[in-house]
Amino acid sequence: MPALVVVGAQWGDEGKGKIVHFLGEGADWVVRYQGGDNAGHTVVFDGQSYALHLLPSGILQPGVKNIIGSGVVVNPSALAEEVAALESRGVRVRGRLFLSLAAHVILPYHIHLDVLREAGGRGLGTTKKGIGPCYEDKVARIGVRVADYLDRAALRSLVRQALAVRAAELAKVKPLQAIEAEVFDGYEERRRLLARFAADTGPLLDRALRAGKRVLLESAQGSMLDLDHGTYPFVTSSNPVAGGACVGAGVGPTVITGVMGVTKAYTTRVGRGPFPTEIPGALAGRIREIGKEYGVTTGRARRIGWLDVPQLRAAARMSGLTCLAMTKLDTLSGVGPIKICVGYRLDGRLLRDFPVSRRAQREVRPVYRSFPGFSGDLGRVRSLSDLPRAAREYVFSVERLLGVPVAVVSVGQSREQTIVRDAAGIWGRRHSI
Ligand code: IMP
Repeated sequence: MPALVVVGAQWGDEGKGKIVHFLGEGADWVVRYQGGDNAGHTVVFDGQSYALHLLPSGILQPGVKNIIGSGVVVNPSALAEEVAALESRGVRVRGRLFLSLAAHVILPYHIHLDVLREAGGRGLGTTKKGIGPCYEDKVARIGVRVADYLDRAALRSLVRQALAVRAAELAKVKPLQAIEAEVFDGYEERRRLLARFAADTGPLLDRALRAGKRVLLESAQGSMLDLDHGTYPFVTSSNPVAGGACVGAGVGPTVITGVMGVTKAYTTRVGRGPFPTEIPGALAGRIREIGKEYGVTTGRARRIGWLDVPQLRAAARMSGLTCLAMTKLDTLSGVGPIKICVGYRLDGRLLRDFPVSRRAQREVRPVYRSFPGFSGDLGRVRSLSDLPRAAREYVFSVERLLGVPVAVVSVGQSREQTIVRDAAGIWGRRHSI
């Protein structure tokens, strides 16, 4: 019963979609455990590019079954669109997608609230998908779960209750009656769609694990956007760290056999918030263009920075990483000398760990170590030994600095552009460097 959690080790957009799709070939089940359609996973498969937001990345592997766990927040319209887009391209979804009856549903008023709070650039730089307000209602115990959504009368009464609580804020958008009407406009079609996939996913997953099936638990966003452990308040409203997999999929920690952290060979961040190794000016622009660093969900230009060891060490600690996948190594080709942050300075002191306080996160100054750059078309390389020497040394340096082995290196978007160092070890045992 191997169960591998795949987490983003930075601020999201690390390339988890590609890695999960790649590993998905050896999996029986893929489970999304948190987040919603704020996520954007690009998967290139058979020469075609797919942008997934809500669906687990295993959906493109024909033999793989997929679960949207109770920790995910689901916008029925976004689900409908994504399913329709895949089915129109010949991907079979029916019988392969199971949606937890306990997952919370994003309703139109959650999106209104998100947009309202972001208006005039005053917010956190969210994706405006209603993610935060939906999780807020979940915690306030006024949320609507998939099971409730399927029952029109229950939905009506729960929506009225929630709208009464949020009335003061929502009154700035439009009359409450109109907002309630939006929930039920075209409701029947959305209800049928959710009913098609709704299931009690806990026992399903339990049976799969007991039958010895291989399960991949897929995070959205990244460790530094974690509600508890990230750069609060500039975070998402769920727990991408590996512990979130247990909560959001409904499995105990004892079933997890490995945790892979996905990191780019550099760092990116979208939205506001601290980013100690952010690169200013033209070099950032160059890396952004080579790496096509624009959000899959919002199209926003991503902020670019060097790799940050204290940050990655925090991610490794929070999720108990057993191995790493390093993506986009090819993007650094031709960039010149490469820096890695190995610590920070703050108030004349040297810090080894990523700090907790807002002020410290904002004011730390990175201490860098420089590494020789490399050049050439890395996209053609299929083994570590064929990488330019400096690129190989860069990979080895990262694993030495972190104490976590790099099991996979990605040098391009397509599945062939993946170097696997230790295929057998990924799913289970703790690697040694
Ligand atoms: P929310 O998740 O839409 O509430 O946004 C909160 C923060 O998380 C913002 O900084 C977003 O840019 C960021 N965020 C949410 N989803 C993603 C993602 O998939 N990739 C990168 N950043 C994300």
